[in-house]
Amino acid sequence: MNSTLSHPTQIQFYDLHPPLDDFRSEVLQGLSQPQKAISPKFLYDKRGAELFDAICTLEEYYLTRTEMSLLKTYAKTIAQYLENSMLIEFGSGSSQKIRVLLDQIDPIQNHPTYVALDISKQHLWDSCSSLATHYPGLATIAICADYTQPLDLSEITALQHQHRVGFFPGSSIGNLEPHEAVQFLHNAAHLLGAGSHLLIGVDLQKSAAILEPAYDDPQGISAAFALNLLTRINRELGADFNLDQFGYRAFYNSSNARIEMYIVSYTHQTVHLQGIAIPFAQGELLRTEYSYKYSVSQFQMLAAQAGFETQQVWVDPDRLFSLHLLSIPEYSSHHSSSHHSSSHHSSSQSS
Ligand code: AVI
Repeated sequence: MNSTLSHPTQIQFYDLHPPLDDFRSEVLQGLSQPQKAISPKFLYDKRGAELFDAICTLEEYYLTRTEMSLLKTYAKTIAQYLENSMLIEFGSGSSQKIRVLLDQIDPIQNHPTYVALDISKQHLWDSCSSLATHYPGLATIAICADYTQPLDLSEITALQHQHRVGFFPGSSIGNLEPHEAVQFLHNAAHLLGAGSHLLIGVDLQKSAAILEPAYDDPQGISAAFALNLLTRINRELGADFNLDQFGYRAFYNSSNARIEMYIVSYTHQTVHLQGIAIPFAQGELLRTEYSYKYSVSQFQMLAAQAGFETQQVWVDPDRLFSLHLLSIPEYSSHHSSSHHSSSHHSSSQSS
């Protein structure tokens, strides 16, 4: 222990959060389509972020604990990529999983920087403060932003000149449509730069009998998470959704390999938002999320379209979840499309 080398931890905070106008116009636009839909990024206000954390602890929601156990099992191998690097987490949430990786790094010898990107401002601040207390000496940069949009971090001088490792856990990639997922990966490749790595968690395809309870638990937390979107719209945009008149539905669409999540209107009713009347038919669905599930090779093809090569893939013994370590080759122009390197095969390990 060398206390002279440890310095007081600082959190640099940048607010690149989209303005309220974006929320208003996206909600109005989403509610005026024939198939009503609102982007899942709006689920994460303070209450929404708390409810999502509660989902992650549910017995039915196997994703979090399975990914956590993969991270713990392979943390030493992963840590080799993290020396003196800048770890950039997309959608950092409660910043719990990153701790498994940080625990492997000697902060005196290898000075990592942690960059947390999240849309939920208060949650981001609270999580980074708690992280900074736990890891004194860890340089932490918290950026409140929509990570699904291209980000220009060149203004943030603290972010220059370090090897970058992206971290995108939790299968959040599954909440994007496949073409959006490729776009996100393209943007991430650009942000991270040639020669860098991306560690990404991806939920695997499996039976509806396992998937559906994970997204519609008997305790009703998943339902409360979706319905909180209406509470948020009432509070922030002055709408008059009557929460007693709406419910929640989730099911696995196996032809498209995705869970579909909806708010359902129990009755024929009209909701008012900013002077606009929005009719709902009885049984009409408002989509809140898709959660796509991939096979290991399907995901590798997706990542290859964005210029990533597979370094390693880890899968748990029950084949529930996959963790991919991807790299952006030095020669990458981010436009390579179909390389499936034989030396970087899906080395699914089940130990
Ligand atoms: C954040 N994301 C990966 C979750 C999922 O599994 O698709 C969101 C979620 N929605 C309801 N339950 C979980």
